[in-house]
Amino acid sequence: MSGLIKRYEANERLNHWATAILFILLACSGLAFFHPSFWFLSGVLGGGELSRFLHPALGVLMFLSFMIFALQKLSDNTIKDHDKKWLGQIGDVISNRDDNLPEIGKYNAGQKLAYWAMVLSMVLLMGSGLIMWREFFSHMFTVDTLRIAVIVHALSGFVLILTIIVHVYASIWVKGTIKAMTTGFVSRAWAKHHHPLWFKSVDK
Ligand code: HEM
Repeated sequence: MSGLIKRYEANERLNHWATAILFILLACSGLAFFHPSFWFLSGVLGGGELSRFLHPALGVLMFLSFMIFALQKLSDNTIKDHDKKWLGQIGDVISNRDDNLPEIGKYNAGQKLAYWAMVLSMVLLMGSGLIMWREFFSHMFTVDTLRIAVIVHALSGFVLILTIIVHVYASIWVKGTIKAMTTGFVSRAWAKHHHPLWFKSVDK
């Protein structure tokens, strides 16, 4: 495709959207277990009984699909000096004064912080979820450990849901970004404007 730059391979997009669909199913069923006022959301996994069975299994799948994708993106998400400068000028970011901002690479500091929040909350969700998994593991732990796992699971689930809300909002806010994850390509203008250091590295 001329005039366009490749941002994601097909396998990366497949993994990303698998994670996104699993996240929605898990967030809905998790909220249904969390409080009776969310019980209607258990319908997304076929009601209470089926949700209790599917939630942990789909959780493992989401963890795996996310981790494969996240590992591929690891080197692009290390925090550099220009990212710290970008964060220090968050007022300019919010007011769209892009010309004042330092040049950034494949991801901006906001995306990188979201990435690390996702990695941390996924690891905590997986660890605490395994401890709580009644069918296989929960009998190996004391009641106190189980209580801590329940709290860690709820808190990290809350952090992940908030992070994804910001992630989706930002993807829609910066025009042309959704296309990157649906088609795999971005326009040269998008790359040059939003990620100039990455643009220079791929435009050879
Ligand atoms: C539910 C709807 C979602 C939408 C609409 C969405 C949209 C997007 C888009 C457009 C990008 C490309 C950003 C860019 O190239 O600059 C992206 C990247 C990414 N998304 Fe999502 N996403 C969603 C859910 C998720 C979920 C549930 C996760 C993980 C739990 C996730 C993790 C990521 C990661 C790690 C990246 C790469 C950014 C980085 O490495 O810093 N996304 N997403």
